[in-house]
Parts: sequence; structure tokens; C-alpha cells
Amino acid sequence: MTVLALVGTQWGDEGKGKVCDLLAGEADLVVRFSGGNNAGHTIVTEKGMMILHIVPSGALRKGVHNLIGAGTVIDPAILRKELDALEEIGLPQDATTLTVSPKAHIITDMHRAYEAWIEEHLGDYKIGTTLRGIGPAYALKALRLNLRTGELRSEETVRIRIALLAKILQATEEDAEKVTEYLLGIRDWFLPLLGDDIKLVREAQASGKNILLEGAQGALLDIDHGTYPFVTSSGTTTATACTGLGIPPSAITTSIGVLKAYCTRVGEGPFPTELSDEMGDLLRERGKEYGATTRRPRRCGWFDGVATAHTIAINGLDSLAVTKLDVLDGLEQIMLCTAYELDGRKIEHFPTEAEVLSNVKPIYEEMPGWKGNTTEARNYEELPEGAKRYLKRIEEITGVKIALISVGSHRDETILIDNPWI
Ligand code: GDP
Ligand code: IMO
Ligand code: MG
Repeated sequence: MTVLALVGTQWGDEGKGKVCDLLAGEADLVVRFSGGNNAGHTIVTEKGMMILHIVPSGALRKGVHNLIGAGTVIDPAILRKELDALEEIGLPQDATTLTVSPKAHIITDMHRAYEAWIEEHLGDYKIGTTLRGIGPAYALKALRLNLRTGELRSEETVRIRIALLAKILQATEEDAEKVTEYLLGIRDWFLPLLGDDIKLVREAQASGKNILLEGAQGALLDIDHGTYPFVTSSGTTTATACTGLGIPPSAITTSIGVLKAYCTRVGEGPFPTELSDEMGDLLRERGKEYGATTRRPRRCGWFDGVATAHTIAINGLDSLAVTKLDVLDGLEQIMLCTAYELDGRKIEHFPTEAEVLSNVKPIYEEMPGWKGNTTEARNYEELPEGAKRYLKRIEEITGVKIALISVGSHRDETILIDNPWI
């Protein structure tokens, strides 16, 4: 039995969906433990491309049970859309393949409208959120006012809570009525998905099943340890997997961090290695770096060893999955940031205060690129020497071994060095 936590080590969009789908090939249970449909996890199989926002990335594998855990926030309309899309490609989900925790929280149109209002009023100070209602849902959860999925079972509770939420979220009675009717109308298909999440996980553990914990976002977007306030509204680390699912830290047997071979960020906030030049544009075009959720162009830059050391430390990672190596194919030179300069001094720690971080300058190490096409490689030996040197250097800088290398978006475009399940 392995409980494998998979998390993002940067600002999200590292390729978690691809790696999760791949590792789900040996999983019995795949769990989303935090976040909501701010996530966009892309999976490419012979059935084409699928972007999952809330359904776990085990959904493309027959025989895998998927769990949307207690720590998540769910927009039922998005969940419905995803279930329909999965059904269309012959992978229908029902209570035998998908469980939703009754403790997860609901996102409504009122949450989204309120977030849009906040972002608009922040003007230059806006976060650049995905506008999916994530922040208001988590904030109201902390205030103990939000509606939980399990509370949909009682019509009276739904009516009372939505009326209360409407007052706080400055929604009209008409809006509240619409939301209430919508939520009462989904109960036929939604309530059967609710199940005892704790029991499901305990039984899976007891019978020696492989459990894959699918992180959303990335550690630099973690509400506590990320680049606050330019973060999401939940935890995003391996520790969050425990709280979001209801397992003790000792239950995680191994963890893998997904690391893009360069770096991207969507939304506002400091990004030391950002390239606001032709190289940044080149990475964006080659890497097709446009948001899977909002289609916004992603900001692109070089690998940041200082930020990665920070995220490895807060996650306690056993191995790395390096993705999108192919995007760097053919570059003359590649830069790796190994330290920062702050006020004329070299620093090696990662300052999480946004103001301080926006003043650091990356100190780079330059490496020659490589010729040839890594996408064709299916084992480490087939990689160009330059690519191997780059990966070795990442291992040296991070102190963590690379278990998997992704050289294309398709499930098969992968080099497995060390199976993390074993
Ligand atoms: P996630 O949020 O971490 O799951 O990542 P996203 O799905 O938002 O973004 C990653 C993008 O890169 C998607 O379009 C993937 O199909 C694509 N991708 C994943 N791995 C690779 C890879 O190794 N090479 C290339 N070229 N694309 C990849
Ligand atoms: P996946 O799981 C990239 C970013 C938003 C914004 C900030 C806050 O696909 O990696 P939010 O809507 O969460 O309140 O927005 O966090 N963000 C992501 N960026 N990938 C994600 O998820 C993200 N989820 C949130 O762009 O900067
Ligand atoms: Mg994404």
C-alpha cells in the first residue's frame, strides 16, 4: 500500500494533471484534497484532450475510484459539465466510481459575483484570481457560514443558509432565490454522489490499496507559505493533503513534486525569473502557456532554484517529476537561477513577503542548451547530453532525485526513471 502525494512546486500549471493521470494507472483511489475549479488539469490520451477542474485526474482510468475531499470547494455547475464531458467520451461517473465528501463546500453564482466585485474594487491591487468564487467560498467557510455539500440534503438548511449568504455577499433576494432553486434542483444527481469519505479512505488503507493525492495549484500559491497576498485561498502542500482528506501526516508514504523545466505564473504578483522579452514569448508559444481555466496568457521565466528549494522544504518531497523538458529543445542557452541579489547582497533563502520578493534580482548560472528532440525519448539514455546535464543540475540544486521526466503532453510522452509507487 502506498499513499502518494503529488503536488505542484511552482505557481501551478506544472503539468500535475498529466503526471497524475499517468500515475493513476497504478492507483486504486485518486483524491482531490483542496482548491476548486480554479484548477485546470490537462490530460491527453488517445481519447483526445480533457481538462479537469474539479473531478480528480483518475477519471480517465477505468477501475480507479475518485474522491473529491473535504478540503475542496465545489461549483456544482462545473462538476455537472465535467461529468457530462466524461460521459461523452465513454467514461461515465457515478457513485461507484466517484465520491464527493459531504464536508466539501459549495460555490454559487453569488460567490463568483462577490469576488468579481472585490477584484474590481481592488483596482491596481487586484490579485488576478480566476474569478471562480474560490476566495469567498473559503472565507465563508472560515466564518462558518458557507453551505456544505452534505447540507444540500435538507431543503430548509439550503433556504436558510442561502438567504444568509445573500445578505453577506450583497446579492439580491432574486439572486438568492435563483441559487436556492438551482441547488434544490441538482439534488437528484448530486446527493447520490455524497459518501463517507473517511470510511472510503480508511477501507482503502486497510486493504492495502494505492492512494494518489492530487494537489491543485502550486506551493508558491499556498495561502500560508506562498507569495501572499498573490496566492489562492487554500493550502496547496502535502500537509494540506492530510487536513483536506482527513489522514494523519504519517499516512503519506511518499511524495512527488511536479516541476516545470522552466517557470510560469498566471495572475498578479512577484516572479523573480520572469522574462518580459522575446525569450518569454518563445517559452509561452512553444509551451502553449495559456491558462487551462481562464485562457489567460501565462507569464514565463527561467527555472528558479531558490523558490524551488523553498517549496521542496515546505512539502518534504521525496522525488520530482520534471515536465515540459521538450519546450527547451534547441535553445542556445538555458539559465538557472541559483540565488537572488537583494539590496546589493546575495541571498539564498526565498522571501515570501511580496514586497521584498519583487525587489530581488535573480543570479543566474548559464548552461549550453541541446540540439535534438527530447519528445522522442522514452528512456533516460535517449535524451541529448545537454538535456541530461540540465536535469542533473536541477537535481544538484534541489537535492531531490528526479523520478519522472515528461517530454510531451501525451500520456505516453514520459520517461519513468524511478516508479514512485514502489
Ligand atoms: P496542471 O494544472 O499542473 O495540471 O497543468 P495544466 O494542465 O494547467 O498545464 C500544463 C500544460 O502543459 C497542459 O497543456 C499540458 O497538456 C501540457 N504538458 C504537460 N506536460 C507536458 C510536457 O512534458 N511537454 C509539453 N510540451 N506539454 C506538456
Ligand atoms: P492548477 O491546479 C495556476 C492563481 C490565479 C491567481 C491566484 C488566486 O491548474 O495548477 P484564485 O482563483 O485561486 O483565488 O486565484 O492563484 N491560480 C492558479 N494558477 N494554476 C492553478 O491551478 C491556479 N489556481 C489558482 O491565477 O493568481
Ligand atoms: Mg492548470
